[in-house]
Formats: sequence, C-alpha cells, structure tokens
Amino acid sequence: MATKDEELYPRKILEYMEGFLVSKTLFTACELGVFELLNASWMSASQLAQALNTSEDGTERLLSACVGLELLTAHTNPDGAVLYSNTEMSSVFLTKSSPKSLYHSIEYSSRTIYLCWHYLADAVRDGKNQYEKAFGINSKDLFEALYRSDEEMVKFMQLMNSIWNICGRDVVTAFDLSPFKCICDLGGCSGALAKQCVSAYPESTVTIFDLPKVVKTSRQHFGSDQDERISFCEGDFFKDALPQADLYILARILHDWTDQRSVELLVKIYQSCRPGGGVLLVESLLHEDNSGPLTAQLYSLNMLVQTEGRERKGSDYRRLLTAAGFTHVQIHTTGKIYDAVLACK
Ligand SMILES: C[S@@+](CC[C@H](N)C(=O)[O-])C[C@H]1O[C@@H](n2cnc3c(N)ncnc32)[C@H](O)[C@@H]1O
Repeated sequence: MATKDEELYPRKILEYMEGFLVSKTLFTACELGVFELLNASWMSASQLAQALNTSEDGTERLLSACVGLELLTAHTNPDGAVLYSNTEMSSVFLTKSSPKSLYHSIEYSSRTIYLCWHYLADAVRDGKNQYEKAFGINSKDLFEALYRSDEEMVKFMQLMNSIWNICGRDVVTAFDLSPFKCICDLGGCSGALAKQCVSAYPESTVTIFDLPKVVKTSRQHFGSDQDERISFCEGDFFKDALPQADLYILARILHDWTDQRSVELLVKIYQSCRPGGGVLLVESLLHEDNSGPLTAQLYSLNMLVQTEGRERKGSDYRRLLTAAGFTHVQIHTTGKIYDAVLACK
C-alpha cells in the first residue's frame, strides 16, 4: 500500500509544476475580455466565441477551465445548452470597471512580469534583473527601463494602484498615524495609498513625491489631485531636495534598491524630517528565520528578476533605519500581503 507521502508528494510537485497553467488560463481569460462579457449575463461558448472572434472549441475549453478555477459558473439549460457567467469573485476582482479590480495587475503580470520570470535561472546565476534578455533594454537606470514607453509606465502605475484599494487601509492603520498631519508619500506613484491615508486620517494632508513624468501621468490618467488634501511634487528622491514633512511614507520603495541605496535615501529623509517626525515603511516582510511567508519569498525572487532590491526581514529594515539615524523602530506584521514598519526621528 502506498504511504501517505508517496501519494501526497507527487501531487504537490505536480501542483507546483502546473501552477503556470493556472496563471496562463487567468491571464488569457482576462486579456480576451471573457469577464467583461460574462458580467451579469449568461452566454454559451459559441456566443462568446462569436463576440470575441475566437475558435468555438478553444473558447469552450477556456470557459470550462475557468469553471474549474471557480472564476465562472456554468448552468445547463433544459435544451442541453451550457451557459456561463462570472462568479462573484470574477465580477468584483476581474472586471475592469470594478473599484477592486485586479485586471491591470493581471495584464502587467502577463505581459511584463511573466516574461522576466522566463529568465529566472539566469537571474539566479547572475544575481541581477533580466531586462536585457527579456526586453533587449539596458537596466542601468531601473525606472528608465521600467518606464521604457508611456504605455509601459501607465501599465506599471495601474499595477501599483490596484493593490491599495484592497489592502491599503490595513497598512495605513497598522499604526496610529493621526499625530502626523503633514505626510509625504515618497515614490507615491498615482496616489492610491495617499487616498487611503486621507480617508483614514481626514485631518492629514499628503504630498506625493515622484518622478516628473509619473506626476504628469498621474494628473492626466488617474485624476489623483481631485482631493484638496492631496498634492504632487515632482523630483528625484536620490538627487533633489525632499519636501518637509512630519511623516514620510516609503511604500514598496526600499525593496527596489540595494541596502546601500536604501540607507542613502533614508539619510536624506532623516535630514528633511521634522524633529518628532517619522518614517513609515510598507513592505512584504520575510519571517526572521526566512521560513516564509511564501508570498514574500516569491516576491523576493520577483525583485531579483525585475529590480536591484529584495524583500527583507523586519530586522533588516531596523538595521537600515538605525544606520540612517532613526530610532524607536516598531514592526507590525498585518498577516496580509503588506506589513508596516514605523520609526522616529
Ligand atoms: C514600486 S513603485 C511603488 C509605488 C507606490 N509607493 C506603491 O506602493 O504603490 C516605486 C515608485 O517609486 C518611484 N520612483 C522610482 N525612482 C524614483 C526617484 N528616483 N525619485 C522619485 N520617485 C521614484 C516610481 O516612479 C514609482 O512610483
């Protein structure tokens, strides 16, 4: 008789091996627009194939796999016709117009991140990102590479934007930030986290500091300056003076950079920060013994294929903050994707 391990282990290995089949099914259904068409309506595979200009057989198999993944639900009519519609999960998270949509994250994962991951073995060998191989571009200036066209930049910004509608509140309320009235969100992108901040702390104002072309695009495409408590400041946080503030937020910034560049930035922040002020880091923290969480471990590999940085442990951030002069470092793991670290001047 087979032992439990003999049954379980190959099943687990096969599940890992075939994980990309699931990703690609999700990517494809999103990119073809399946969830847009099946939002609050029932259609057969052949109706959908006609609307999407796809093969009936391929469409039927895709829809069937989506049913298996609980992204769609199927219903058989008395005449035997199978009709498909979105599940609640797809309606809320996979349709473009939903406030909690992850559509753009999925699109960016499919068109950009997935291509970098093709070179993961090279990234592990070389210890650096793989833009050269994946896209034929030099990544000496990381964000020049990431923003290699206006279209890529907007897609990246949409990717950054989407997660804070889902878990932004958790990170801005991980600590009581109400004493900090004047907040600067460094590398704040299109302002999704800034919006969560002013919603949780209505008396605060947030200045989003980001590269000039990101600020222009935020104004053009994201309508981020419609709330009078939110404003923008253009600049390069490694080169230009930073706005004065009580609290600086660095959300998913330090994980892009080496320890040396991170300390360089933290020292600049320390110098601009008002006495009694602080810095809030928002990152996905690894356990102290590196044993998990799996999401942070995989994100760290993602940082390897895409950036100059890595995911870190709470103690790593404590070390970087202390090296820059900050004290009273407090670490708050949320149990969700992103955690928070607060330090004071
Ligand atoms: C990984 S994204 C994080 C965006 C946002 N904080 C979030 O969590 O959604 C990094 C951000 O840093 C900005 N950035 C990168 N280099 C910068 C620099 N030298 N000066 C200012 N902003 C920079 C990018 O434009 C981008 O918005």
